[in-house]
Amino acid sequence: METLAQQINIEKTKHSKIDQVDFDDLSFGSIFSDHMLVCDYKNGNWETPKIMPYGPISLDPSAKIFHYGQSIFEGMKAYKDADEQVWLFRPHDNHRRFNISAERMAMPEIPQAYFMEGLETLIGLEKAWIPSTDGSALYIRPFMFASGKGFHASPADAYKFLICLAPSGAYFSGKVKVLIEEKYSRSADGGTGFAKAGGNYAGQFYPTQLAAKKGYHQVIWTDDHKHEFIEEAGAMNIFVRLGDTLVTAPTSDRILDGITRKSILQISERENIKTEVRKITVGEVVEAAQDGSLKEMFGAGTAAVISPIATFGYRGKDYDLPELENSYASRLKKRIVDIQYNRAEDPFGWRYGI
Ligand code: PLP
Ligand code: COI
Repeated sequence: METLAQQINIEKTKHSKIDQVDFDDLSFGSIFSDHMLVCDYKNGNWETPKIMPYGPISLDPSAKIFHYGQSIFEGMKAYKDADEQVWLFRPHDNHRRFNISAERMAMPEIPQAYFMEGLETLIGLEKAWIPSTDGSALYIRPFMFASGKGFHASPADAYKFLICLAPSGAYFSGKVKVLIEEKYSRSADGGTGFAKAGGNYAGQFYPTQLAAKKGYHQVIWTDDHKHEFIEEAGAMNIFVRLGDTLVTAPTSDRILDGITRKSILQISERENIKTEVRKITVGEVVEAAQDGSLKEMFGAGTAAVISPIATFGYRGKDYDLPELENSYASRLKKRIVDIQYNRAEDPFGWRYGI
């Protein structure tokens, strides 16, 4: 019996764009590799995926993605080591979370073979697009949206699953400044905050634009009840170091269960860094910033990796974080990227060779 990977039809591009790319000067997610994977869901079944040249796709104007926003995505990276071997990081966790998002948005789940074999076949073909430059990787964007037609406000009967690849550098350039939000909310109890649904991001753009006008890169979301607790940022989970303890909020209906976040908690345990997973009040963070016990604040995510926060704003005042010599952020970042790029042992079994 043929495996799914063997059934994938590959239509290669006649004009590779790779020579036009400066791999030493990559921004995040703005250029795309030569090929993409496309898989259609119709009549209750996933069809065999196809790999084709990267390019526009055609959709009916009544496709439900345009009207009702059924759309989910994942964010992953492929890393190349010094021997040109290619590695993914905890990819099965992305697959699992993709299906959690799909269920919440009333979309069909994607079987593991379609996700994993599709990914491995595409990356195998696009290996030359994985940067070797330090701090860069091939960002992987699996996504699914409703392609089925009709204005009836109900789940579509057809979907498309795609995987696109973008050789990428750092998500942030320069020092990161965030604003603790106390008017708008990203998500609510019983809502879709835990899903990687496109609409969660669309809803953040306006408050984030307002924050950007004041010079902030991201908003730190607080709970929708009283804006009393720190939850997460627009594209990353948040950690604060109070004294010697690293603290992060528990995941919930409202917070994405980040793979980087849980990896940091596991690495910290091995490194004897004391951690607490508990609600963090804005008040205690502001107080700690004032009395000097707030040592660090950083974001954690696939795109952001571990991004130290230099300044946070709250109620019209900016609070600067100290620049520490041997910060938890730099220690943990080294540990995690050394595993990802196969530069160190992986005692957790997270690395996945392809
Ligand atoms: N929170 C949000 C809202 C995100 O978009 C991301 C990015 O994926 C994260 C957290 C971090 O998740 P992960 O570490 O799985 O990439
Ligand atoms: C990721 O880190 O992979 C994300 O999905 C964040 C994204 C919004 C850029």
